[in-house]
Amino acid sequence: MKRDCLRINEFTKEELLSIIDRALELKTLVKKGECPPLLKGKTLAMIFEKASTRTRVSFDMAMNHFGGHSLILDQQSSQLGRGETVADTARVLSGYVDAIMFRTFSHSSVQELAKNATVPVINGLCDSFHPCQIATDLTTLKEYHTDLENMTVSYVGDGNNMTHSWMTAAALLGFTLKIATPEGYGVGAQIKAELSNASIHYFTDPKEAVAGCDAINTDTWFSMGQEVSDEKRNAFTPFQVNADLLKLAKENALVLHCLPAHRGEEITDDVMDGPQSVVFTQAENRTYAQMAILEKLILTDEQSHESGVLI
Ligand code: CP
Ligand code: NVA
Repeated sequence: MKRDCLRINEFTKEELLSIIDRALELKTLVKKGECPPLLKGKTLAMIFEKASTRTRVSFDMAMNHFGGHSLILDQQSSQLGRGETVADTARVLSGYVDAIMFRTFSHSSVQELAKNATVPVINGLCDSFHPCQIATDLTTLKEYHTDLENMTVSYVGDGNNMTHSWMTAAALLGFTLKIATPEGYGVGAQIKAELSNASIHYFTDPKEAVAGCDAINTDTWFSMGQEVSDEKRNAFTPFQVNADLLKLAKENALVLHCLPAHRGEEITDDVMDGPQSVVFTQAENRTYAQMAILEKLILTDEQSHESGVLI
């Protein structure tokens, strides 16, 4: 059976922990110039219906490090922009490439692509989830010696695709997640209900959410595709990650942001550029976390073909 990565909980806890370890191992190998060409001759197609810097470059580099290739399709220059369906696109691309990464709006579009593709599909961000980013964030915390299964992470900001991804990871790995969002900007009701057994706590006061935490995470107040308004900006002003808020966390708490940041809005310059910030290591680690995911999905798919398993 081919495997996809549409949400991080498509992996078991053990698989996710081994992807994280593998990402750090691959980082060392790449830095030493000793990365094996495990995906030589393999190609990843990337479809972008939203903008990207990190996802685009880090997936390309991930394939390069493994001796493979990537190619990019966007809405305007492909037939998707002229109405060819996601399902037909999935069938066509499956005849050319070994895996597909899709950045789009609704999660149902990624599911539709995965359902109709015969090669692995990776969600490169949709309105609901960003699994590659959460795999990277966990890899970064592990790199900084955080105990992933027993840590307390705070998420301060909008109830968005990153919040949902942190929630999914908390449920899978068992760590405690404390989320602070303004009234009316909380997480999706469906995912909250789905993950109600996890150690996830909800606050409307960011100070309560960050008290004593091992890591503080934030993200833009205005995700791609969302309307920018002064009303929303005003509601989020007390949710800025700044030096005063950071003081309430553990002394050496790490600061995470998936980027791009809107400096002066959700995070101040002094915190983002300060000693507790790991945001640029996070950005760099996208390559290695995605290498571990690509290796797992593409090589598993190849093995299932070789062993004659019908997909
Ligand atoms: N964090 C992230 O996904 O960045 P891009 O939007 O630049 O890909
Ligand atoms: N929540 C942000 C994440 C960007 C990587 C967005 O969807 O725009």
